[in-house]
Amino acid sequence: MIICIYYGIIYNGRSDSMKTPDLKEARKRTNKIVETREYVKNENLSNVGKDKKYYIKTYGCQMNVHDSENIKALLEDMSFEETDDFEKADLILLNTCAIRENAHNKVFGFLGRVKHLKETKPNIITGICGCMAQEKSVVDEIKNKYKWVDIVFGTHNIDRLPDILNTSLKNSCQNIDVESIEGDIVENIPVKRDSKYKAWVNIMYGCDKFCTYCIVPYTRGKQRSRKLIDIVNEVKDLVDKGYLEVTLLGQNVNAYGKDLNANYKMGDLLEQVALTGIKRVRFVTSHPWDFDDEMIDVIAKYDNIMPYIHLPLQSGSDRILKLMGRRYTKEKYLDLFNKLKKKIPNVSITTDIIVGFPGETESDFQDTLDVVKKCQFDSAFTFIFSPRIGTPAAKMKDNISLKEKEQRLYKLNELVNKYANINNQKYLNKIVPVLIEGESDKEGMLMGYTDTMKLVNVKADKKYIGKIVNVLITDIKTWSLNGEITTI
Ligand code: SAH
Ligand code: SF4
Ligand code: F3S
Repeated sequence: MIICIYYGIIYNGRSDSMKTPDLKEARKRTNKIVETREYVKNENLSNVGKDKKYYIKTYGCQMNVHDSENIKALLEDMSFEETDDFEKADLILLNTCAIRENAHNKVFGFLGRVKHLKETKPNIITGICGCMAQEKSVVDEIKNKYKWVDIVFGTHNIDRLPDILNTSLKNSCQNIDVESIEGDIVENIPVKRDSKYKAWVNIMYGCDKFCTYCIVPYTRGKQRSRKLIDIVNEVKDLVDKGYLEVTLLGQNVNAYGKDLNANYKMGDLLEQVALTGIKRVRFVTSHPWDFDDEMIDVIAKYDNIMPYIHLPLQSGSDRILKLMGRRYTKEKYLDLFNKLKKKIPNVSITTDIIVGFPGETESDFQDTLDVVKKCQFDSAFTFIFSPRIGTPAAKMKDNISLKEKEQRLYKLNELVNKYANINNQKYLNKIVPVLIEGESDKEGMLMGYTDTMKLVNVKADKKYIGKIVNVLITDIKTWSLNGEITTI
């Protein structure tokens, strides 16, 4: 056995290196403005993955999807090659999500299959990263019950993956390397984008809102905005490379810039990004709290900022919103919603809703249904509250049965689906612009999204992939539209 060069514990015949996360540390916030530094490639590691394949499975939100694009490029810089068959891989990474318990369970389910494979192929390297890796309870479980997992790294040190992996390969140790507190913003981490037409662009990291149910401020750290110039330059570069669409990413994009000692905000950033000439600008996610008039005016002014807003409601009850720490009331949400509808022509608005928050009464739930009836959302992601260890809501008294929560979710979904369908009906026989992204699951068809973020299956020749075309909508489903390309 090779002895691990790091300080560590020895078990199972191998020595292990550990830096584990701590939620109390992760909760801390300082006023320090975060520094920006450039990614520096370690050229010595360029051949570490020669003749080896990697497989990465991504759970969770767009932030994680984009992190996986960085991870892929970092691995390919080490000469690893991607495979979409985990049984053929020499390196298996799970980029995890901690938002609800079922996300957590899915990861441990897949880990069981990886264990099986590792029993027949002991030389494969296995790793866990992403938001679950930032949770102490998860890392403890991996340390104690999943000793065969080789590397664990978090959301704050993705740029260090080559070194972490190399240490593990050289020393055959379980290498747990998770920072509790966010570090600098690292610019120019390489990226292997999944699409040639649309790109994710981080505009900020972390979240300072601390909604009482949410684990993200702990797993992603303090809010840190990238500098406006760095974002605009990235978008310009994407335009040069032929990209048609960017989605600006953050947990709370409307608060962009507030943590910087700068004189710009989200409205200014949106305007500068629109002025790069990219055909489509999107952004997620908007918290109702920071949505100012300047932002609304910019969205309304520029044709290339898409008329689509994801505006999480969470609950329609003022009492529950207060317990959630959401900082708005039902009335404030409705005012903002109506203003957006009035000022942005043709805007489509979607939302997130949680049912069964601790102590939610039938009357609280009726308030949520009332907002859904008033807003008639284009669509909504709906969830049953899931207690996350370390968050205040996990300690709140919860006397509502799971059965009751499931019934509420069912009722809510019925209403959400009804309005999704009614909204889609408005598209019948209309001509809408669609960015054709690729082949659809529906045989012989292509797929893409309208400016308003409606999924459309289109009967068309493959030569239209990567183009924005006019589509005549011929048929309506609850969650998608069908159409044909038209030259009108
Ligand atoms: N930053 C975004 C939300 C990101 S998480 C925002 O504030 O809008 C995506 C969604 O997951 C949330 O909007 C919320 O509806 C849901 N969610 C978060 N934590 C949850 C929990 N503990 N239980 C159930 N749903 C949760
Ligand atoms: Fe979570 Fe609230 Fe931050 Fe969204 S705004 S990531 S729900 S804490
Ligand atoms: Fe999940 Fe982390 Fe995103 S918890 S939703 S992957 S920020």
